[in-house]
Amino acid sequence: MAAPRLEFRNVTKRFANPRQGSVVVAVEGVSLAIADGEVVSLIGPSGCGKSTLLNMGSGLDPASSGEVFVDGVLVTKPNRQVAFMLQKDLLLPWRTIVENVELGQEIQGLPRRERRQTALDLLAKCRLPDFAEHYPHQLSGGMRQRAALARTLAVDPSVLLMDEPFSALDAQTKMVLQQDLGRTLAETGKTALFITHDLVEAVALSDRILVMSHRPGRIIEEIVVEIGERANPMKRRQDPAVANYVVRLMNLLQIEQAAA
Ligand SMILES: Nc1ncnc2c1ncn2[C@@H]1O[C@H](COP(=O)(O)OP(=O)(O)OP(=O)(O)O)[C@@H](O)[C@H]1O
Ligand SMILES: [Mg+2]
Repeated sequence: MAAPRLEFRNVTKRFANPRQGSVVVAVEGVSLAIADGEVVSLIGPSGCGKSTLLNMGSGLDPASSGEVFVDGVLVTKPNRQVAFMLQKDLLLPWRTIVENVELGQEIQGLPRRERRQTALDLLAKCRLPDFAEHYPHQLSGGMRQRAALARTLAVDPSVLLMDEPFSALDAQTKMVLQQDLGRTLAETGKTALFITHDLVEAVALSDRILVMSHRPGRIIEEIVVEIGERANPMKRRQDPAVANYVVRLMNLLQIEQAAA
């Protein structure tokens, strides 16, 4: 059987605070595996270690103990199989949109014509074909986040890690971008792990939802989403079964909060 695209084995992360002589255990004993083409969301109370977990997945921050694997290879540093997308689009203001989308490929040393073509194709897929030559400040927040998604996909990663990619957007723009992301992930067959505080978003976009406890973050529940097509989040969110999932998630989160 093929190795999971992304795997955490008994991962713990501690942060030392030398000034106070204290140690914070941010993540404790997390094991998870995400198969090729799966989309998994991670939810849990603020400060429970979600971003810490994603940072370890990207190789930006090492685990204190345990291991992280991408395609069966131990992650020890940032690598090109994994792409990161954050709440802030982090587009470079002095580059046009298409130049921003090309950035990762440029770093990889791909020839200009090839990377331009990929970038333009992705901008079309992310419904920004007419904005390639604009600068980031000329785009709305939702459009900038779409450009950031195009940039994330441009390096053709095995795994997309997304840390609250839509949380800074208004509710309606967010729904449109969820639809774009759902469709794009399905079309490209990409594997993704994303963090969200939006329970309906988690249900609409993912195959599975992992629920974390209060810090030190552990995975307390895994919920498999079995409604409609994942490629069509807009349709999924109209399914009456969404409410049952949300109630279940709310209960899990409140139980953990009350127990803290
Ligand atoms: N570089 C760091 N140094 C010290 N402590 C850190 C560091 N990064 C995170 N922490 C601590 O680890 C814990 C988990 O933080 P993390 O950012 O992973 O939470 P989170 O679940 O992403 O929260 P939120 O939902 O608010 O984004 C917090 O207590 C935080 O203060
Ligand atoms: Mg976070």
